[in-house]
Amino acid sequence: MSQIHKRTTITAALPYANGPVHIGHLAGVYVPSDIYARYLRIKGEDVAFICGSDEHGVAITLRARKEGKTPQQIVDQYHEQIKKSFEDFGITFDIYHRTSAKIHHETASEIFKTLHEKREFVEKTSKQYFDEKERQFLADRYIMGTCPNCSFDEAYGDQCERCGSTLSPSELKNPKSMLSGEPPILKETTHWYLPLDKYEPWLKQYILEDHQEWKPNVYGQCKSWIDNGLQPRPITRDLDWGIPVPVEGGEGKVLYVWFDAPIGYISATKEWARKEGKNWEDYWKKDDTRLLHFVGKDNIVFHCIIFPSILHAEGSYIVPENVPANEFLNLENDKISTSRNWAVWLHEYLEEFPEKQDVLRYVLTANAPETKDNDFTWKDFQTRNNSELVAIFGNFVNRAVVLTHKYYDGKVPESGLLNAIDEKVLVEAKAIPNKIEAALDKFKFREALSQLLELARIGNKYLAETEPWKLIKTDEDRVKTIMNVSLQIVASLGVFASPFLPNTTKKLTEMLGMEVGDWEEAKQFDLLTDNQQIEKTSLLFEKIEDEQIQKQVQKLMDTKESNQVEEESQIAAIKDEINYDDFMKMDMRVGEVKSAVHVEKSNKLLKMTVDIGVDTRTILSGIAKHFTAEEMVGKKVVVLANLAPRKIMGVESQGMLLFAENADGKLISVSPDTSGENGSGVS
Ligand code: MF3
Ligand code: ZN
Repeated sequence: MSQIHKRTTITAALPYANGPVHIGHLAGVYVPSDIYARYLRIKGEDVAFICGSDEHGVAITLRARKEGKTPQQIVDQYHEQIKKSFEDFGITFDIYHRTSAKIHHETASEIFKTLHEKREFVEKTSKQYFDEKERQFLADRYIMGTCPNCSFDEAYGDQCERCGSTLSPSELKNPKSMLSGEPPILKETTHWYLPLDKYEPWLKQYILEDHQEWKPNVYGQCKSWIDNGLQPRPITRDLDWGIPVPVEGGEGKVLYVWFDAPIGYISATKEWARKEGKNWEDYWKKDDTRLLHFVGKDNIVFHCIIFPSILHAEGSYIVPENVPANEFLNLENDKISTSRNWAVWLHEYLEEFPEKQDVLRYVLTANAPETKDNDFTWKDFQTRNNSELVAIFGNFVNRAVVLTHKYYDGKVPESGLLNAIDEKVLVEAKAIPNKIEAALDKFKFREALSQLLELARIGNKYLAETEPWKLIKTDEDRVKTIMNVSLQIVASLGVFASPFLPNTTKKLTEMLGMEVGDWEEAKQFDLLTDNQQIEKTSLLFEKIEDEQIQKQVQKLMDTKESNQVEEESQIAAIKDEINYDDFMKMDMRVGEVKSAVHVEKSNKLLKMTVDIGVDTRTILSGIAKHFTAEEMVGKKVVVLANLAPRKIMGVESQGMLLFAENADGKLISVSPDTSGENGSGVS
């Protein structure tokens, strides 16, 4: 349903101002939205690219409690830090606003009041946990108790972080308030609900019928929400941090953060328009405006169902034309997690790889979790840098510029008549920009980027085929033409690269002595004029060495180990009861360690071969802090022999050794006396 539009409002999910941003944020939302905004701008379109900090909600108040600060101090601190990270990575928001701003409070209150006056909301009274000592209702996250699934006794009211299950506070055993530590009581409270059920017919038409072109991951999630039947959603909370509920009966209550945060896009646009002398309503209320929300997959329902329902119910707004949401990026095979510090933080990346923003932008786009979750590994980062950016992109540009200096003092030589090879390379090159556009128009950023690299590849191949360095002795006229054609490709490459690799483009165009030209013009591959002076080459990309990568991998490994030590040092309660059959499923055998080595690059792992009578197998065990390899050799051990094999650091471990563990985490071996024959069953 892509009708002709006059302007585009692009929003990028407002990050919570409760921590720094990491590569997952960048890959999922901010790099693709920035590429898209830059792409539209260079094509001369009218764009408002909107973002800011999400400063309300329990995530913020929890962080504040943890750090012993006020919520305002927290959001002030992280707002600045996040804003700077985005600037550092060349994310070109037209405004980076914040939801604690006055204009935002006013805008969100207005919209709430309008819906209230239109009698859209349903009011409902229910029982919620209340802390009598602190005289406060408790958000789900403020209640802790024992998980009904895994018996972890520090599960939160909304989720157990041990087993990952989603909970509601009433499911917790022995609930306690995290404010006072006391068991909470149930108390009645009234809230305003958004009647999603009422909007269901409209949503069905809007999404299921009219937007079948949405990405499958987005459309699929919406469909499953709708198919499961939509329920009214409470949009107010008993909390003292947020936007006060602006109607009678709202004392002591605030708007739910997911009600106010998306409205943050609107208030940010207002602020931007005020400063720029524009009319904000053009960007939110005109039918010839296209509204696009870039978000991660956990935000889909809010941007496809809830926020559009609010805008629709209000009546004067347009609704999103598309929500090109991405899936999640993992890091080295593990879910990115702030609390486990399993992340590559942007500010830390820049300390380790100064001025290499474009490398990260490149890798995160090439490997973006566009249709499914994807994995970031440092190895892949290195490979893509070395064998794509350096060996293809950088190499082509460098060769063209260096040869031009060598043969023509850096002046663009005049082209003679093109021969068949030149014609062919130009036909190939000219096909690329259309492919990049077609991909970007469908939000296929990986595909677009691979087409860009293809252009550099075409240029490289052309130089390799024509070998101007050989011809220079015999056919000078040919060399002029070849160098002219090559430089024209370099120049256009610079323009097409600009949405993806802004810093590189800047260097490249400075080198060529040109402006970052016009997108349409670049399609002619004729941006440089004869005799135009170009500067000496400056390196666009440089090789990343193994040591640099190893350092990053080691850093993550250290994180993993200290996390494990932390987890293990918690005193475990008796686990849930099992029956005799469960026990009999375990095949435990007496064995003997035949050899043992310390696994390289790990502080914890020993790799052992263990004779268990029936066979001799490889077993990895995280015991190196407690036992040396030498100590283990010859030891009698008990082996869980039918545990499914697992790969640990690339090695398959075929079973598990049993150890006892002291409360302080110290391991004690559990071994039969020396007369136990290898292979004897243990039960
Ligand atoms: N802060 C939310 C998150 O990080 C995203 C908010 S997007 C908005 O998941 F639309 F609500 F602003
Ligand atoms: Zn659990």
